[in-house]
Amino acid sequence: MSLYDRILGHPFVYHYVRPLVVGIDYTPQYEALDAHSADRILDIGCGGGDALRYLGSFETYHGFDTDEVAISFAKQRPEAGRPNVHFETAPVTPATFQHVRPTRVMMNGLLHHVDDEAAVQLLRMCGATNTVERIVTNDPVYLADEPLNNILARLDRGRFVRRIEGYRDLVARAGLTIAHDVVMRSHPTRGIARYLLMVIER
Ligand SMILES: C[S@@+](CC[C@H](N)C(=O)[O-])C[C@H]1O[C@@H](n2cnc3c(N)ncnc32)[C@H](O)[C@@H]1O
Repeated sequence: MSLYDRILGHPFVYHYVRPLVVGIDYTPQYEALDAHSADRILDIGCGGGDALRYLGSFETYHGFDTDEVAISFAKQRPEAGRPNVHFETAPVTPATFQHVRPTRVMMNGLLHHVDDEAAVQLLRMCGATNTVERIVTNDPVYLADEPLNNILARLDRGRFVRRIEGYRDLVARAGLTIAHDVVMRSHPTRGIARYLLMVIER
C-alpha cells in the first residue's frame, strides 16, 4: 500500500479529517437500505464501522473489510461489543453469504475500490443468495461539467471510480435490476463531492 493510501485510509483521516474537507453525511444511503429489526445486514467494505452511526435497528450486523487497520478501529466502537454485531477482516465469499443469510447488503464506498470483474462477482453473489432483498451501493462518480468533483474522484484511494453508465453496467452484467439511482452531494449542504447511490433489488 502506498504512503498516500496509508494516510488517506488511516481511520483518523478517514473519520475526522475527510468529513471536514469534503463534507460527509451518509443518512440518505442508510435510509435507502431500509433496514428493520428483522434484517440481517452484510456490510461489505465496512471500513471503520461507520454504518453503526446510521443504522437504527437490525437483527444482526456483519461488517467485512480486507483492511485490518480499519477493522481494528471498528472493533473499538462501543456497539462492537453487542452480541449481534460482528466485524471480520476478510473478503466475502459464497460461504459468507450462506453463513450470514443477509436480507440487506450495503456496499458504501466499495465498488470504486474493485475492478469490474470483482465488482460483478460481488453483485452476482448477492443475486445468488435468495435471502437478499435489497443491495445499496454508493460511490464517487465522474460527471460531465463537474471539474471539482472529478478532481476529488481522481484523488480518491479507490482506483476504479466510474461514470454513471459504468456503475449501471456492473449491475446489468450481474443480472440484477436497479430499482432507483441518483447522484447526490456527499453532504446535503456542505458536500463538494458527488456520489452515485444505487438501490438494487434481486
Ligand atoms: C471508501 S471505504 C468505505 C468504508 C465504509 N463502508 C464507509 O462507508 O465509511 C472502502 C473500504 O472498502 C475496503 N475494501 C476494498 N476492497 C475490498 C474487498 N474486496 N472486500 C472487502 N473490503 C474491501 C477498503 O479496505 C475500505 O475500507
